[in-house]
Amino acid sequence: MYRIRPRVPMAVVRRLPKYYRYLGDLMERGVGRISSKEFGRLLGFTASQIRQDLNYFGGFGQQGYGYNVEELREQIGKILGLDKKYNIIIVGAGNLGQAIANYTGFQESGFALKAMFDINPRLIGMSIRDVRIRDLDDIEGFMLEERIDIAVICTPKEAAQGVADRLVKAGIRAIWNFAPEDLEVPEDVVVENVHLSESLISLAYLANERETGGIGEEQRAERNNARA
Ligand code: NAI
Repeated sequence: MYRIRPRVPMAVVRRLPKYYRYLGDLMERGVGRISSKEFGRLLGFTASQIRQDLNYFGGFGQQGYGYNVEELREQIGKILGLDKKYNIIIVGAGNLGQAIANYTGFQESGFALKAMFDINPRLIGMSIRDVRIRDLDDIEGFMLEERIDIAVICTPKEAAQGVADRLVKAGIRAIWNFAPEDLEVPEDVVVENVHLSESLISLAYLANERETGGIGEEQRAERNNARA
């Protein structure tokens, strides 16, 4: 069993889902093995970067053979914890919450949506893909009955900290936060913030820079890293 050791840089951990995704695409195309050079070319990384990253986990390739696509995907999946199933809930069943609930891909990757919560009486009782929107006041009781691994916060900014406090009190240890609010949580709770607008603003910056004279090699490498 491979585990992410604490010394593995976060940048490497952030690249693993991309490796996982590309390996899935290769499998679908019937590719059985791939060299680090070819794999690097696909991902926009150098071969040595790929070898270096995978070496943190004991390497998987063989000299002269490259990587067995299926095996490598399985191992990276294990490292990422994708061999397990996760129960999730969404708090805030508005536009974004419903869009996330409607996306079937998370389910296919092992993330099962168990319930949604909101405070709006017009939404409570509705279902999105057979998942009921419940009253926020039922959240503690629900979490006593069901093991919930990840909570997704899709409430307005002003409500996010209060919701996070309730979730933490009810035992949540991982939060996927979409609200534009820096949440304060105890040390043993992990928060992953997703801010599409920050990504859009970065894109605007890069697009502007291109217009005003292009970008250099160093920035291109940095951009690829950020994209990974
Ligand atoms: P929305 O107004 O459509 O949905 C918000 C929902 O939260 C509503 O149904 C409302 O009744 C509910 N709500 C309010 N207070 C609540 C509470 N205390 N507990 C449970 N539910 C509560 O808004 P939308 O467009 O879905 O956006 C939701 C959040 O996501 C906002 O904070 C927005 O800024 C953020 N957002 C973030 C993005 C990102 O990339 N991170 C992209 C789009 C939106």
